[in-house]
Order: sequence, then C-alpha cells, then structure tokens
Amino acid sequence: MNFDEAVRARYSCRAFRTDQPVDRQTVEELLDIASHAPSGGNLQPWNIIALSGKPLASLVSDVTASFAELPRGEGGEYRIYPENLKEPYFTRRHKCGEDLYATIGVERGDKPGRMKQFRRNIEMFSAPVGLFVYLDRQMQPGQWSDAGMFIQTLMLAATERGLATCGQEFWSMWHKSVAQYTKPPQDWMLFCGIALGVPDADAVVNSLKTDRAPVSEFARFTGF
Ligand SMILES: Cc1cc2nc3c(=O)[nH]c(=O)nc-3n(C[C@H](O)[C@H](O)[C@H](O)COP(=O)(O)O)c2cc1C
Repeated sequence: MNFDEAVRARYSCRAFRTDQPVDRQTVEELLDIASHAPSGGNLQPWNIIALSGKPLASLVSDVTASFAELPRGEGGEYRIYPENLKEPYFTRRHKCGEDLYATIGVERGDKPGRMKQFRRNIEMFSAPVGLFVYLDRQMQPGQWSDAGMFIQTLMLAATERGLATCGQEFWSMWHKSVAQYTKPPQDWMLFCGIALGVPDADAVVNSLKTDRAPVSEFARFTGF
C-alpha cells in the first residue's frame, strides 16, 4: 500500500473484530512511527496512554453503568464544536451524522436507534485497544494541531498494517472515568480516544464513505 492508497483507505471504523487482539509490540510500533510527525519547536506535545484487556473492559463497564444517568457524559474540559457552528461546517457535520445513520438503516425519527449507535462509542466499537491522547493544559492551538498530525500518522500506519482506527472525542466527555484507569498527571487533559483493532469487514457500519469538499471549495491559488 503506497501513501496515497493508505490515505484513501483510512476510514473511521465503528465495528472491530472481537476475536483479533492487537499486541503491545504493534501498538508500540505504531506510536513510534507516529512520533515522527512534525510539531512546532519539536515539542512533541502528545501523550498517549494505551488501555487493553481488563482495564479497558472495566472502563467500558463503568461508563455503561453511568450512561443512563449521564447521557451527555461527565462534562468535557473543552468544547468539542463551537457554539453556533457556521456554514459550511454545520451542514457537513449534520450530513456526516445522517449518512452514518442511513448506512445502518436508522431512520430520521428513530431516536432509540440513533442512541444505540451513539452508545457503541462506549465499547470503543469493540476495539481491543483504546489509546487516550492527552495534552498538557498549558498547550495552545498550535500544539493541538501537532497532536492531530500525530494522530493521523498513527491512523495511516495502522491502515497500512491492515488495522483500523476511530478517533473518539466522545471520551473527552468521560475524562473522569477514563482517568480512573489511565491515571494521568494533574496537568494533562484528555483530547480524545482512538479505538484501534482489526476491522470487521462484514459490518455494514464500516461501509460508510464520508464526503470531502473539492479542492476548489477550500483552497485559493494566487500567482500560479
Ligand atoms: C479527533 C477526532 C474525534 C472523533 N470523535 C468521534 C467520536 O467520538 N465518535 C465517532 O463515531 N466518530 C468520531 N470521529 C470520526 C469522525 O466522525 C470522522 O473522522 C469523519 O466523519 C470523517 O470520516 P472518516 O474518518 O471515515 O474519513 C472523530 C474523528 C476525529 C479525527
């Protein structure tokens, strides 16, 4: 798989094979590759805590137990999307949700159906590994962007190895529960989780192909 193929093949996997673990060596290899991502001043501001096995299962069971009482989570430390999201971003976000539900045959008014899919976030979509991405609270937008480059590099390296991933901002709303198992230093805040595992190729949810705006919509050229 060459680079362009890996970029095009990566997608957010929302159903993983439960019978296919990912070992620690593979996770370390992916983190090592991802650490070659660039960062302003070479700060390398990303911090990763990887959970698997019993700790991950316990986290899933804790959040499952709390979810009915706290459907919006425990409260995030940052706002995931801006208030009054402008166009074209609002429509893109809306469409991505609608496309996801259409893929799995959940209709517009089917709130329980939508909630069922949303709840799959708790199980990390059955992924055997959960990576939790932390940044020191001191960090600024530039360093958050650096973390994004790290995440994309990791996702592509995983894709190239036949693995799949799903970024999960969902976990920022459950950072207190996550912290029970990741035990981060006080200075760190949780940006997101990343579900990692072998994709379930038969799962219809994994057939979702999200749109992209054409280059002409997001880039301008001057002086060519
Ligand atoms: C940082 C980050 C957080 C995300 N959080 C979630 C999430 O909590 N739940 C989810 O189902 N998808 C989540 N996604 C997946 C996005 O919805 C997805 O990347 C987007 O719709 C584009 O689709 P694609 O990844 O399949 O190309 C997240 C993606 C990123 C990069």
